Amino acid sequence: MSIIYHEKSKTFHLYNDSMSYIMTVLKNGHMGQLYCGKRIHDREDFSYLLEMCVRPMGSYVYDADRLFSLDYLKQEYPVYGSTDYHEPAVEVLQGNGSRISDFCYRSFSISDGKPTLAGLPATYTEEDSEAQTLTITLEDEVTGLLLHLMYTIFTHSSAIARSVCISNGGKETVHLTRVMSLSLDLPDDKYEWIQFSGAWARERHVKTRRLEEGTVSIGSMRGHSSHEHNPFLVLKRPTADEHQGEALGLSFIYSGNFLMQAEVDCHHMTRVLAGIHPDCFDWKLEPGESFQTPEAVLVYSSNGMNAMSQTFHHLYRKRLAHGYWRDRVRPILINNWEATYFDFTEERLVSIAEKAKECGVELFVLDDGWFGQRCSDRAGLGDWIANPDRLSGGITGLADRIEALGMKFGLWFEPEMVNKNSDLYRAHPDWILSTPNRSESHGRYQYVLDFSRPEVVDCIYQMMAKILREAKVSYVKWDMNRSITECYSSALPADRQGEVFHRYILGVYSLYERLTSEFPHVLFESCASGGGRFDPGMLYYAPQCWTSDDSDAVERLKIQYGTSFCYPISSMGTHVSVAPNHQVFRNTPLHTRANVAYFGTFGYELDLNKLSEEEILQVKEQIAFMKKYREVLQYGTFYRLVSPFEGNETIWMAVSEDRRTAIVGWYRVMNVVNAYYERVRLEGLDPQLCYRNSLSGTLHYGDELMNLGLITTDVTAGEVLGGMKPCTDYDSRIYVLEAADGQAGL
Ligand code: DGJ
Repeated sequence: MSIIYHEKSKTFHLYNDSMSYIMTVLKNGHMGQLYCGKRIHDREDFSYLLEMCVRPMGSYVYDADRLFSLDYLKQEYPVYGSTDYHEPAVEVLQGNGSRISDFCYRSFSISDGKPTLAGLPATYTEEDSEAQTLTITLEDEVTGLLLHLMYTIFTHSSAIARSVCISNGGKETVHLTRVMSLSLDLPDDKYEWIQFSGAWARERHVKTRRLEEGTVSIGSMRGHSSHEHNPFLVLKRPTADEHQGEALGLSFIYSGNFLMQAEVDCHHMTRVLAGIHPDCFDWKLEPGESFQTPEAVLVYSSNGMNAMSQTFHHLYRKRLAHGYWRDRVRPILINNWEATYFDFTEERLVSIAEKAKECGVELFVLDDGWFGQRCSDRAGLGDWIANPDRLSGGITGLADRIEALGMKFGLWFEPEMVNKNSDLYRAHPDWILSTPNRSESHGRYQYVLDFSRPEVVDCIYQMMAKILREAKVSYVKWDMNRSITECYSSALPADRQGEVFHRYILGVYSLYERLTSEFPHVLFESCASGGGRFDPGMLYYAPQCWTSDDSDAVERLKIQYGTSFCYPISSMGTHVSVAPNHQVFRNTPLHTRANVAYFGTFGYELDLNKLSEEEILQVKEQIAFMKKYREVLQYGTFYRLVSPFEGNETIWMAVSEDRRTAIVGWYRVMNVVNAYYERVRLEGLDPQLCYRNSLSGTLHYGDELMNLGLITTDVTAGEVLGGMKPCTDYDSRIYVLEAADGQAGL
C-alpha cells in the first residue's frame, strides 16, 4: 500500500520510502495541499497545517467566517476569482460568459499500477506492484463538469505522476481555456529556480535564480517544446547542491506548447503550475466529451540534484521509453549530414560506409536529400519517394548495399513538413497550417502539414510505412525543422481553432504510435534542428534524440551537462564531427571529441575517408572502447561532479550497476600553466572495492576515491619533463576504474 485514506479527516497520504504527499478535502469541498516532501510518519489528521487567519483586504468564502480564504489555503487544483487571486490551474468559459467554477470533492478510487492516457505518451508500469494510482473526482454543480485528478506514486522511485481528465457531464457546451496538468502550492519561497534554456545550437544551458515575489515562467508557443526552454525545471533549496539537500524536479511529458511557472505571493507562498500553454488554447467540450491533459512528473530528492536526476533517468529509461530498444545498447552510427550535406552520390555514400565499416561502425544513416526533388532545402519535403537520379536502386538498393557490407541502414525523414515545391503540396495545398487571408510564413522554405487532420497523418504514414516495409531500414531519424506560425486548420470550425496546436501534437503522437507499433525493431531517433524537441513526450516513442546541431565538443559539454539534469545518457545523440567544427569553427583534438561523445549514444558525422592513417587508428580504438563500455556509459548511474557553467573544467562519471566499473570524463577548455594540485571526489563507488586507475595503473579503494578524491593534476602543474606529453587547450581524459579482485590498494 502506498496510498492511505483517512475517512474522518478526509486526508490522503501518498508515500513511498523517500517521499510523502498529503492532501485533504477542505471545508468548502475543494482539495487542499498539505505537504510534499521527505517521507514522514502518517497520522489521522494533518489539518493543523491549514492556514486559517485573518488578513486585511482578504476575501472570505463564508459569511461570519474571516478565517477561510482560498488566497491563503494551499490547494491542489485551484480556480481564480472566488477568493483566490493567484493564477489558477483551470479555467472554464461558460455560455453566460463566466469563468468562475467551483469544483467540489465527490469521490475517490485507488487502483494498483497505472492507467494509460489515451493518445498521449506517459510513464507506465509493467507490474501492478510498481505503483498505485489515486483518482479524486470533483464536480462543478453549475456546469456538471467532472474533474478527475490523477496521482500515481511509484513504489521504487521518488516520483509522482499527475494528470487531469475533465469530462462534461452537464447539458451545456463549455470552452476549456486552461487545464494545467499539475498545480502545487508550497508553503514557502526559499528556493532557487533552475531552468534549462538557450537557443538553436546551445540548448539546455543551466540558468539559476532565487525565487522572489512575482511570477517566473518558462514556456513555448512555437508548437514544439523548443530549443529556447525545455519543459523541465528544478526548485532546490539555496543550500542544496548536486550531492545533498532538497530538490524538486518537475518534468512535463509533452512536445507542444507548454507553460511552467512559479508564482510567489506577498506571504511567500509559492504556486507551481505546469501544463499546456493557456495562450492560444481553447478546447470546446460538448456534453458527454472528455479532455485528458498530458502528464507531469514530480521528483523529490532529499539528497541533492544528482539523486533527483538519477530518479528521472531510471524512470524515463525504464518506464517512459519502451519497446525493443529500451534496454539495448545503441548501435555506433555514422551519419552523412556534416560529411556531405545535400551534395552526395550513391558511390560517395557507400565509400563513407565502407570506411566506417572498416573502423567498426555498425549503422550507416542517410540524412536529408534522398527523396523527391530534394537537392537543396527549397524542394521535395513531403515526397517520401527516393530520387532515382541520386539512388539508382532506390532506398531498397542502397539499404541492400549497406547490409552487404555488414552494417545496418538508417534513414532520415521530416514527416511533418512540406515544401511548396513538392508533389504533395501541389496535390493538397490546403494541407498546411495557414490562416485565411493572412500571409504564410515559412521557415527554411518549408510549411507545416496540418497534423490535426487524420487524413494528412495517414497519407504520410502510408509513404513512410511503404519504405520501411520494402527496404531494410533499421533506424529512422525523425526531424522537424521549423516552428509553427499562422496556426489554423481549414478542417476545423472557428470555435475549434484553439484546439489546433494540441491536435497537431496528438497527430504527431499518432503517427509515432502507428510506426513504432508496426516496426517495433526500428530504432527511432527524434530530432528538431538538433535539440528543439528534446522532451519526455518524444522519449516515449524514440528512446534517443539528436541532442543539438552543435557538434563541437566544447559546446557539447554545457549542452550535455544541462540535458543530464532530466534525461538519461542513453537518450542523448552524440557524434564525433570534423575539426574545425562546422558550427563554431573550433579545432578540438579528436580524443576530446570522442571523450565527450562517449557519454551518449555515440557515432560519427564526418567523412572518415578524409582522416589520416593515424586518426583512423584512433577512431578504431575509440569504437573498440565504446563497444566495451557502452553498457556502463549509457545505462550506468550518472553523476555530475564539476560543472562547465562554473569554470574551466567539467567532470562527470558513470558507474556500472554492480559498481565494479566506473568511467570518469575529465575535460578542460583552456590549458592552464603552473596549475593547482587538483583532485575530485568521486561518487557511487563501492567503498570496499579496490579499483585500478586505467591512466596511472595505480590501485585505490573506493572510499579513497570518494573521500580523498581522484588526482587530476597533470604536467601543466609544473615543468614538462622528458617523455611527458604536454597538455593543450580543449584537453580531456577518460579514467576507467575497474575493480581489481584480490588486490590491496597502494
Ligand atoms: C537538422 C538536423 O538537426 C540535422 O542533423 C540534419 O538532419 C538536418 N536537419 C537536415 O536537414
